[in-house]
Amino acid sequence: MTESLRRGAADGAAQAGEQSSRPVAAITGGGSGIGAATARELSSRGYHVVITDLDESACVRVADELQHAEASQLDVTDPQAVTAIAESVHRRLGRLDVWVSNAGISHMAPFTEVTLEELRRTLAVNLEAVFWCGQAAARVMRRSGRGGTIINTASMAGKQGRVPFLSDYVASKFGVVGLTQAMAYELAGDGIRVNSVCPGYVATPMQERELAWEGALRGVPTDEVQALWVADTPMRRLETPEDVARVIAFLAGPDAGFITGEAIAVNGGAFMD
Ligand SMILES: NC(=O)c1ccc[n+]([C@@H]2O[C@H](COP(=O)([O-])OP(=O)(O)OC[C@H]3O[C@@H](n4cnc5c(N)ncnc54)[C@H](O)[C@@H]3O)[C@@H](O)[C@H]2O)c1
Repeated sequence: MTESLRRGAADGAAQAGEQSSRPVAAITGGGSGIGAATARELSSRGYHVVITDLDESACVRVADELQHAEASQLDVTDPQAVTAIAESVHRRLGRLDVWVSNAGISHMAPFTEVTLEELRRTLAVNLEAVFWCGQAAARVMRRSGRGGTIINTASMAGKQGRVPFLSDYVASKFGVVGLTQAMAYELAGDGIRVNSVCPGYVATPMQERELAWEGALRGVPTDEVQALWVADTPMRRLETPEDVARVIAFLAGPDAGFITGEAIAVNGGAFMD
């Protein structure tokens, strides 16, 4: 248990079974980029946020910025650990209102060069883990009888494969969009809404890595790659993590109360479907 988790648990909802007065949202991959922005956005809207990440120090740092926040190390590819977090949140805080499956990875390679190990790793983190997390969250939400909301971070690359050097990533994100629909269909009767967000070119550490890879693979400087991505975006700027976080918060809240099974594009017009 981290210092932040103790602090979060101490500020109003420490007792097992005692219901948090605030809605509770859990986020995976919350230590960086879109996940960290989502934790901040949901916190500013009054949620108690449970920030999880493979990188413990990263999620602790984000939780330490916020009130009513706790951090916990979590590898989303471990179904038992995922279940343990969902159950522990519900046991300690008495509710789990929102689950954001956001953790994801990417790497770039020409389609014919992707190894079996790389393919399996991408699918394990980006798709299978969304399955495990959704199951764990939905079981708790169903048992509570009060419904809930699940949001999966897919991608613009979950709607179009016209993306260079990301074939395994594209396969995983198309999978997330389909899985989101199947979950939404089965869970609607339990009052659980499930949607995904499809961001475009978001300025995060993942993007920094992709700029370097694509530059190397194309043999062009990274600022040229970045200029291409901006030119590909009709709104003519890179997307910010906050652009995505605000849409996740909208999907989590009552204004989206009759939206389920959707894959919401948040990309400045870079791909319209
Ligand atoms: N940045 C973009 O342009 C972009 C565009 C579309 C979709 N996305 C998606 O948004 C999500 C967040 O991406 P980001 O850009 O903020 O990336 P990021 O690399 O900044 O953050 C991802 C976080 O996920 C964590 N993570 C990785 N593997 C994990 C695992 N096995 N278990 C738990 N946590 C793990 C990392 O430690 C990191 O903190 C990902 O699903 C990504 O595919 C990003």
